[in-house]
Amino acid sequence: MYFPTVLSAVTALAGLAAAAPFQHGGPPGGAPAGAAPTPFVIPTDDGFPNPSPDQLKVIQQIADGTLSNAPPPAKINESSFPVFQLIAFNEQFEVAFFSSLLQNVTQNVPGFTLPDPKKKDELIDILETVLAQEKLHAINAAKTLANFNQFVPVPCKYQFPTSNIYEAIALAERFTDLVLGTLQDGAQTLARNGDAGAVRGLTSSLGQEGQQSGFYRILLSKKPSEKPFLTTNVAAFAFSALQQFIVPGSCPFPLSNIKLPIFPGVSVLSGQGGTNVEPRDQHLAFKVDLTGVSAADAYIGKSNLWITYFSGQLLPISSPIVNVKWSGRVATFEAEFPFTANEMVGLSVASLTTKGQFANAPEVVASTLAAPGLIQVDDRVKSWDGFKL
Ligand SMILES: *[C@@H]1O[C@H](CO)[C@@H](O)[C@H](O)[C@H]1NC(C)=O
Ligand SMILES: *[C@@H]1O[C@H](CO)[C@@H](O)[C@H](O)[C@H]1NC(C)=O
Repeated sequence: MYFPTVLSAVTALAGLAAAAPFQHGGPPGGAPAGAAPTPFVIPTDDGFPNPSPDQLKVIQQIADGTLSNAPPPAKINESSFPVFQLIAFNEQFEVAFFSSLLQNVTQNVPGFTLPDPKKKDELIDILETVLAQEKLHAINAAKTLANFNQFVPVPCKYQFPTSNIYEAIALAERFTDLVLGTLQDGAQTLARNGDAGAVRGLTSSLGQEGQQSGFYRILLSKKPSEKPFLTTNVAAFAFSALQQFIVPGSCPFPLSNIKLPIFPGVSVLSGQGGTNVEPRDQHLAFKVDLTGVSAADAYIGKSNLWITYFSGQLLPISSPIVNVKWSGRVATFEAEFPFTANEMVGLSVASLTTKGQFANAPEVVASTLAAPGLIQVDDRVKSWDGFKL
């Protein structure tokens, strides 16, 4: 088993999970406290996001594989373009995140130092490949959009809430898991829109992200395979969650170019900001700030709302909110987390909804006031610990 050093660093820092939320508090209440992090700009030395043919060759070498050489589909349904725009937007964020993480580990930034130089080399080697692979995911989505003369997102400036390697790997696992749910939505949208030709490539990258998640999970002492059927998600919730990593106003295009709603987040107050939630039936505590959400006007001060969970491939699970306290348009409340009946190990994606019954995940979006809130119940392994000593 490799990576003993990282594993021990990770375990030693496990108590700091609260500092690594992938939690979208929404403006103005939810951003992590403390000084604003320095905006991160993706380095352009390899030409990304528009590498020359020679630069692309180098990226592909590092990525251990190439872009597809299949001809582009003859047509793409207009309703499918947001799928590719969200993928490009997300992958550019991932490129920024892994570039920053790689820089931090390479430069021995405090919190990102590894005591064993061999383990440091190994992590750098893996991160370099992951980074190049994410670049190709982004370029692939951008190429599809450009081929049909559609809007192609370009990188923004980014901010990360993480200040040590444990937090960074934990965040990588959380956002990768959310992507694994979001790409399910992408595949289904393409299929529904008559774009079957793009499904194979999309699911190829979905599996790739799953391999990454398994690696991060091992570093975090979790079983690599999270659930038999990974938790689903919807594009609008992913686009909303990504906003916390974008320096406000830093994208060189209006965010409305991507035709997806942006919801304020659901802050999970239980566990450590939604992580390390205990595996049992319980009430979880939440907070939302509905400032600027006009669809919420009729609900301010009331309690006829639900927390709706996505878990695995179950139909959306809704629990009425209780113990509701309003302060202006900010609400704190609780909702039942029906763990046992639904075996809710792994990721659950919570939304605040105006209804409590849904026939499928995409249907939830139209009744959502705030989303997502991420909840993680971990099935941790003990035996790996033996390898790190
Ligand atoms: C890299 O280090 C800086 C400085 O500590 C930190 O602000 C940033 O979040 C780190 N990057 C990642 C991906 O954790
Ligand atoms: C395009 O997508 C819409 C929405 O799913 C669908 O109603 C329509 O039939 C699709 N068009 C084609 C040509 O498949």
